[in-house]
Amino acid sequence: MTTYSLLILPGDGIGPEVMAEVRKVIGWFEQNRGLSFDVSEDLVGGAAYDKHGVPLSDATMARAQSVDAVLLGAVGGPKYDNLDFSVKPERGLLRLRKEMDLFANLRPAQCFDALADFSSLKRDVVAGLDILIVRELTSGVYFGEPRGIHADDNNPENEGGRVGINTQRYTSGEIRRVARAAFELARKRGNRVCSMEKANVMESGILWREEVQWVHDNEYPDVELSHMYADNGAMQLVRNPRQFDVIVTDNLFGDLLSDAAAMLTGSLGMLPSASLGAPMANGRPKAMYEPVHGSAPDITGQGKANPIACILSFAMALRYSYDLGAEADRLERAVEKVLADGVRTADLMGPQGGTPVSTSEMGDKIVAALAEV
Ligand code: NAI
Ligand code: MG
Repeated sequence: MTTYSLLILPGDGIGPEVMAEVRKVIGWFEQNRGLSFDVSEDLVGGAAYDKHGVPLSDATMARAQSVDAVLLGAVGGPKYDNLDFSVKPERGLLRLRKEMDLFANLRPAQCFDALADFSSLKRDVVAGLDILIVRELTSGVYFGEPRGIHADDNNPENEGGRVGINTQRYTSGEIRRVARAAFELARKRGNRVCSMEKANVMESGILWREEVQWVHDNEYPDVELSHMYADNGAMQLVRNPRQFDVIVTDNLFGDLLSDAAAMLTGSLGMLPSASLGAPMANGRPKAMYEPVHGSAPDITGQGKANPIACILSFAMALRYSYDLGAEADRLERAVEKVLADGVRTADLMGPQGGTPVSTSEMGDKIVAALAEV
């Protein structure tokens, strides 16, 4: 029997609270679906700093490198705000991303029917929406050289006399690997990829388009590929987002497009994410899954946190790390059912009000729904 290894890093604030609900979900799959998870748990962020004096120990880093998937809660909080930069909780996250070389950031935008009225767009535009934005995360204009702010010598025309420089730079290899990640993901979903750049005005965009096309033609001819200029892509995302399945784009455009797409679906407490790296020896990509939200110190310890973002992050792990697409679908259907039944944590209460359930009650309801969907 296959055993699926998972390293859980609850972290700080509401991280441990939402992770406790994922534990219940894992327990259900083990007891009722005959799945076997090898779950280990460790510290990250402020919790790791308190014990080890660093936000991620070498031992935890080594464990993260050896598992099929890492599931992280959240890091940070006021208690750690004045720590030296080198040991800030966020540095734990950054170390994981960097050393696992997680170059593909996945941000789904999925609209559950019961929450369609939370969207800033009309219900009929977003109901049933299910798209995935794949953002290149480790290169591009945020990292390219040369960069900096310099004196603009010998340019008397320049009022102020300075110039700020950042460089958009992509190698063909960097483009090909994130394109491969996108095509692999598309095969587990709707089998369509739309690649976005600005090939009309940027050479790096021309290279991007050519290399994505090359990967498609040579390795994924079965996946439908289209190309779109990123500015048009932004318009299409709010005009008719359901036309997309997987969108692959660079670091800068992906930063903007994924934040915009996230708000198509409403609450921060609902948003999962993943970051993937290169395939390991077993063919699975290195992977870390985490809710988009932070440690929410304002509601920590009150049982108010919505565990759905973290539970949906685990659903992504089921689909993309363990190849358990049917189980991922089941978990998403369970979330859908609970929401359709009107179960709401405080962050999902509409203007009409009502009585919110606690973090733990939401988890219990989702687990109960797993057997019914
Ligand atoms: P935040 O995401 O923690 O909270 C923003 C607001 O959303 C708060 O009002 C919070 O109560 C609410 N919220 C967030 N998640 C929720 C959930 N699951 N259910 C219900 N309500 C939820 O962002 P904020 O306040 O900017 O940062 C707080 C701390 O978290 C800081 O230390 C920050 O550095 C850290 N942070 C960590 C992240 C991570 O671990 N990936 C990401 C963002 C922030
Ligand atoms: Mg952003």
